[in-house]
Amino acid sequence: MLLVPMQGHAGEGIVLSRQQARARAAALDTLGRDLFHDPRLSASGRMACASCHADGHGFAQANGLSVQPGGHRAVPSLKYLQDAPQFTEHFHDSDEEADESIDNGPTGGLTWDGRADTAQAQARIPLLSPYEMANTSPADVVRHALAAGYGPRLDALAYASPDVDARFALIAEALATYQQEERLFYPYSSKYDAVLAGRAQLTPREARGLRLFEQADKGNCASCHISRPGHDGTPPQFTDYGLIALGVPRNQQIILNRDPAYFDMGLCGPDRTDLTGHGEYCGLFRTPSLRNVATRRVFFHNGVIHSLRQAVAFYALRDIRPQMWYPTGTDGAVRIYDDLPARYHANINIDPPFGPRPGNRPALSNDEIDAIVVFLHTLTDGYHAQQDGRRHG
Ligand code: HEC
Ligand code: HEC
Repeated sequence: MLLVPMQGHAGEGIVLSRQQARARAAALDTLGRDLFHDPRLSASGRMACASCHADGHGFAQANGLSVQPGGHRAVPSLKYLQDAPQFTEHFHDSDEEADESIDNGPTGGLTWDGRADTAQAQARIPLLSPYEMANTSPADVVRHALAAGYGPRLDALAYASPDVDARFALIAEALATYQQEERLFYPYSSKYDAVLAGRAQLTPREARGLRLFEQADKGNCASCHISRPGHDGTPPQFTDYGLIALGVPRNQQIILNRDPAYFDMGLCGPDRTDLTGHGEYCGLFRTPSLRNVATRRVFFHNGVIHSLRQAVAFYALRDIRPQMWYPTGTDGAVRIYDDLPARYHANINIDPPFGPRPGNRPALSNDEIDAIVVFLHTLTDGYHAQQDGRRHG
């Protein structure tokens, strides 16, 4: 008989047969799915994970609000997080052809600032956050789960006599297991995936968009949003998980921003607390995957931008036409990078397509921006190879 040692504190030392392990994983998965969609886990009884991470919207928000009521960051998609590395300040790429001696800097982790390392740890945040599901303690969450009738299912999965900690850990484990369901969370079913597999072809305009996306003196997008398969053939995730400061404009819709002294500075805090005092990390946020980006209605960590075209145009025009993005002061001067205190402005990335440019000409023309947007639409899951043929007659 094949035996699988269980990981994690609750099951340490317990050995299950393959069959038992599979049955347990299946039970965790359906439990996780039910919990994910169940508002009864929240303090108000009205908010589920799925209220913000909606199934039909790439597990991101369904509405066009910059941030959800009471919150202060845009809702990220939960798709394609399965390969996000653990957060590290010094990332060395081990892909075959990469130069392992290069320190790529802060990389990885979950959330916009990389502060959670596993989906299990991440589930604690919304369950217990006063802005989200607003439970005051793990015991509170467990009480709600028991009241909603989950007791028998939780206890059937527990290894020993189930106490509050064990049940809370199981809730987090079930939510994490559900989010690893390949068919839902990383199906690789976009047109671009079909193209990589040789089952479809990009239109000439999509292909032009891809070239501009990759070209170092044009979009240069692929330097962070990786577009080519890895050397082991793994499909590209359209992110390198790096934390980078782009200097996106301050969003006046966010209630916390009414206080001019408040800044959400990502990696150096205040949400994240372990790297406070690291001035070189202020303003850095994790590069998101661009898979399914065309289904998003708000862009960047503070949701300040509301169309994909504007998000792409921001790259080409941030430093060339700053008045388009940032407010002008009473002295007539543009307050560039207004969502980061001036002493940290040196952290902001100025590699192409950013930065001052010869003749003050943007790295991308309007038409080139449009072509990149057209290409980005090929990254939406749910493409069927016959689609193009049918559409063209
Ligand atoms: C009120 C809206 C809201 C609810 C409810 C909510 N989330 Fe989120 N979720 C967010 C926001 C906003 C972020 C980004 C947080 C940040 O960067 O600090 C996020 C981030 C995440 C991430 C990290 C994603 C990434 O890109 O790294 C995961 C995983 C996640 N949520 C899972 C869940 C689960 C599981 C639940 C239910 C237990 C849940 N969320 C409930 C709004 C919500
Ligand atoms: C130097 C690394 C880097 C380069 C180059 C880069 N990006 Fe990004 N991208 C990021 C980071 C970091 C964020 C998140 C920043 C934030 O929210 O503060 C981001 C966010 C985005 C978003 C918003 C996604 C979302 O879920 O909200 C889009 C769209 C995007 N990038 C497209 C592009 C395109 C198109 C290009 C090329 C023109 C490009 N990026 C070049 C690092 C980069």
